[in-house]
Amino acid sequence: MPTIVFVSPKGGAGKTTSSLVLATQIAERGKSVTVIDADPNHPVKTWAKDGAAPEAMTIVSDVTEEDIAEKIYEAAKKSAFVIVDLEGTAATIVAHAISEADFVVVPTQGSQLDAEQAGRAFRLIRAHERGIQKHKPDYNLPYAVLFTRTSVAIQSRDTAHIRRTFAEANIPVFKTELNERAAYKAMFSYRQTLSGLSRSEVSNVEKAIENAAAFAGEMVELLRASKSETRKEVAE
Ligand SMILES: Nc1ncnc2c1ncn2[C@@H]1O[C@H](COP(=O)(O)OP(=O)(O)OP(=O)(O)O)[C@@H](O)[C@H]1O
Ligand SMILES: [Mg+2]
Repeated sequence: MPTIVFVSPKGGAGKTTSSLVLATQIAERGKSVTVIDADPNHPVKTWAKDGAAPEAMTIVSDVTEEDIAEKIYEAAKKSAFVIVDLEGTAATIVAHAISEADFVVVPTQGSQLDAEQAGRAFRLIRAHERGIQKHKPDYNLPYAVLFTRTSVAIQSRDTAHIRRTFAEANIPVFKTELNERAAYKAMFSYRQTLSGLSRSEVSNVEKAIENAAAFAGEMVELLRASKSETRKEVAE
């Protein structure tokens, strides 16, 4: 049911990596998940070419600006989760995908420049909210920033500073960061899930799995929290 849309106008922020990590984590737990691979380069479809996708995972890659909303809607009727990976430009297709979202993840690398680009994603979210608020004044679209490619060894001063800035601006941020790990890159080069990677060829696969599980766990918690928030609003 819930649709999670990964949005970041900045190319290379980690949308495809983090959406595939989340999708495979969910599917490996036996929950059905559809990935809408809306990037015209079809990175997820290419990844799945050799059969790496878990059984519970479906990939839909033939989407256009005109039909993405409908494709998401249809997928959400069938799958326990829908995950949308978009290309890195703020095109109309992004706005259409946001209109079907239950939660938006904004991946960003932990530098000031990258974080400033995330502001463009927030503006798209706000624009969507304003449209709905005309009929439902209390409506908010839940979202959170996900730091990607951060060092496992140290929290950089940049990242710590950006965390504080976001906190001051009441911008929600995942506690979990998707660390810089060779295993995340190797998923694409070997066309494998994290658990399918060869431990002798790729270093620290277990650490990446631990990190991926923490991200997926926090995502599920945030979805639960946002749902109960909505219920409260309806009850009030
Ligand atoms: N956590 C990570 N650890 C290591 N490498 C990563 C991680 N996240 C992303 N990368 C690498 O960074 C590059 C960009 O990541 P990715 O393709 O996921 O970004 P994107 O936001 O989908 O980019 P685009 O806007 O081009 O679609 C890729 O080479 C990917 O392998
Ligand atoms: Mg991508």
